[in-house]
Amino acid sequence: MTYNFDEIIDRRNTGAIKLERRIAMYGSEDVLPLWVADMDFRTPDFIFEAIRERCEHPILGYSMPPKEFYPSLIKWINDHHQWDVKRSWIGFLPGIVPGLAFAVQSMTEEGDEIIVQPPVYYPFFHVVNNNKRVLINNPLKTVNGKFEMDFDDLESKITSKTKLLILCNPHNPGGRVWDKETLERLADICTRHHILVVSDEIHADMVLEGYHHTPFATVSESAAQLSLTFMAPSKTFNMPGLISSSYIIPNEILRNRFVDYLEASELTGGNIFAYAATVAAYEKGEEWRKQMLDYVQGNIDFIVDFLNEHIPQIKPMIPEASFLIWLNCKELGMETDELFEFFAKKAGLGLNKGTTFGMGGEYHLRLNVACSREILKQAMEQLLVAVVDLFI
Ligand SMILES: Cc1ncc(COP(=O)(O)O)c(C=O)c1O
Repeated sequence: MTYNFDEIIDRRNTGAIKLERRIAMYGSEDVLPLWVADMDFRTPDFIFEAIRERCEHPILGYSMPPKEFYPSLIKWINDHHQWDVKRSWIGFLPGIVPGLAFAVQSMTEEGDEIIVQPPVYYPFFHVVNNNKRVLINNPLKTVNGKFEMDFDDLESKITSKTKLLILCNPHNPGGRVWDKETLERLADICTRHHILVVSDEIHADMVLEGYHHTPFATVSESAAQLSLTFMAPSKTFNMPGLISSSYIIPNEILRNRFVDYLEASELTGGNIFAYAATVAAYEKGEEWRKQMLDYVQGNIDFIVDFLNEHIPQIKPMIPEASFLIWLNCKELGMETDELFEFFAKKAGLGLNKGTTFGMGGEYHLRLNVACSREILKQAMEQLLVAVVDLFI
């Protein structure tokens, strides 16, 4: 079956944050919304079928995950990431961002230091700051147009109060797929300094052709023992509104501590539609996933070629995973706020402001390309007109 990703679907009146928050973000509804990281592609049919099938039964009562839930997850992770996850290591998590907060709350104390590697997905900052922990920045370096970890800076910032590092693997907003050597070095440093690692791997199933995702926990036995990994089908299969994710914690002591926290807060359960959709995604989703990634790669190529040819002042970081492109707009000669306004007001484009992602976000914007290519063509035409106008 060939899926149609060219289709343009009207998302008005569905509560889509991407549309509903345009006035708050850009001061106008007259912007193409290329920001919030969900897709404008149709959520695949097998997800709807699973939900409809569950709706056939007349009672939507308190329910356990279906018996296929964990086996389908274990098989998916084994097939795609060559990680032999044991059933006892995993459990349901009501969202990855909530999971990050639970990890901060269960594994650290107020005043402890937590390391993040900006520019990075901004809820990482919130879960640290809002829980009165101390945020330590270990900024990424840009080397030959790609992000690299700065291990010297990391070691220099670790103190006896540093307890946790939140890793974005693969990385948002840079689309970087961290290789085994990088993760091994990170694991080695964290092992020596007794620092736990929460590895957010929500983008793991969207690695693009030519790259390979390495789960942090698989790089060494010590990485397995000091890590909490969070995965989800929600982003890959465009169903984040259902809220379904999982934790994987091989170390029994850490796992018990995390589960005790979840149980004490009554946070262990999900909803019946999330369960059904997760099983459908992992059992039936491979063909759709491949076609979706092919289309996304085509969109990335389109944007990169267009910018190189027509607006070389904007330099995209070439993503190795997912559908987000980190744009370096420094050569347009504007400060970040001005740049953001220019995109919204002059080009009619709603992107994420780089500084939202913390240090290193200056002069950058993040573009979401998970939409019909027609929309991206329109976006690039609008941008070109605005940029030409700027230089006249
Ligand atoms: C790195 C990363 N983690 C987590 C999330 C969201 O996870 P959830 O919707 O399960 O809270 C996103 C969404 O953009 C993300 O990019």
